[in-house]
Amino acid sequence: MTVRPHHRDLAERYGTPLYVYDRDRVRAARRDLFGCLPEGVEVYYAFKANPHPDLVRALRTGDGPACKAEISSTGELATALEAGYRGEDILYTGPGKTPSELDAAVRDGVDLFSAESLSDLEHIGRAALGHGTTARCLLRINSVTASAASGVRMTGKPTQFGIDSETLPEIAAALTSMPGTSVEGLHLFSQSNARDEESLLAEFRHTLQTAARIQDELGLRLRVLDIGGGFSVPYGRNGERAAYPKLRGELAAALDVFFPGWRHGLPRIAVESGRYLVGDSGHLVTAVSNVKSGRGHTFAVCDAGINVFGGMSGLGRLLPVSVEVPVDEESQQVTLAGPLCTPGDVLGRGVTVPADLAPGDLLAVPNTGAYGPTASLLMFLGRPSPVEVVTDGEETVSVTRIERTRVPYAAERSHD
Ligand SMILES: Cc1ncc(COP(=O)(O)O)c(C=O)c1O
Repeated sequence: MTVRPHHRDLAERYGTPLYVYDRDRVRAARRDLFGCLPEGVEVYYAFKANPHPDLVRALRTGDGPACKAEISSTGELATALEAGYRGEDILYTGPGKTPSELDAAVRDGVDLFSAESLSDLEHIGRAALGHGTTARCLLRINSVTASAASGVRMTGKPTQFGIDSETLPEIAAALTSMPGTSVEGLHLFSQSNARDEESLLAEFRHTLQTAARIQDELGLRLRVLDIGGGFSVPYGRNGERAAYPKLRGELAAALDVFFPGWRHGLPRIAVESGRYLVGDSGHLVTAVSNVKSGRGHTFAVCDAGINVFGGMSGLGRLLPVSVEVPVDEESQQVTLAGPLCTPGDVLGRGVTVPADLAPGDLLAVPNTGAYGPTASLLMFLGRPSPVEVVTDGEETVSVTRIERTRVPYAAERSHD
């Protein structure tokens, strides 16, 4: 038996590949994340990690502090509103905001925008003026420096993200007087997936120091400071969410140094998290279609490939995956391949699977709740998108599949 009986039952009922997300795990992650942050720090859930409506709702409702929504498209905006997030709970980010997206966001009452450049700020202002209002904005900063301990640098390089920190003095006046906007604070997102607490803390301290310096340079009084994230969980591999036992105390101490008013909400402090909140809620259940050996390698070809999971590997966020195998079972190491007609369709090499793995067997890849279907090459080769089952423990909450839809077009013609 390679998969849990509950997962086997669901696979028999709905077919494979199949995602099973346990909402209990999402609630636990939310509780844990708020628990390791100083009281009062807000958490924006990054919808890009998994915009499934039943998961984003679970991050807002129920006991304890609720997450807010960090979104980057009108699709995510619609999901957020449907799930009960209000405009004042929403932060709109991203380097490619179009006029129509901004128009929709302002119309729907989005409270806060992250401006990635002077021209992005101008576009946001134009949309706000179109609705006779003023958009509250955070300036996203691409800091020229990072903490020495940081392994994953998302800033300091030329990118489409954020305003280069060294250019701030020369464009300060333009930034703070942009029609239709009011600069309320700063947004710095400098790392992702930081398992090591020291490195996470060092980066947060560095971010606070940078933000305090910029506050002085721009002559601003920050009302909101989004210090980014980096909270970690294994991606498609066995393992646990990272623990941050010192974060609560040490982040509060650093905030006291750099932003003494934070305990009274000046500025409001926010973090962002995607993968940590949903990652360990998910299992991807896949069936083995074939097992093939040759030239010293064994390939287990599965019905889930990078069309279903691991589209992110194309972005350098590397797999390999592992699968759940009971420790007492005899095992072998294989390359886990998907069904696509490309040698790039590999979920993992040297993956431990049962020694007698055969076509028809099921495998379960753990920690696949984040960056799954919506971050994958979903339509490649025209395979159906996977069914996604949301459960509360063993109780099924919803069963859905992402589908192609027809768009009405003006000149209907008969093709008979
Ligand atoms: C601005 C921003 N916020 C949040 C996230 C979510 O990151 P993670 O899923 O690692 O928490 C990302 C990821 O790329 C991001 O770019």
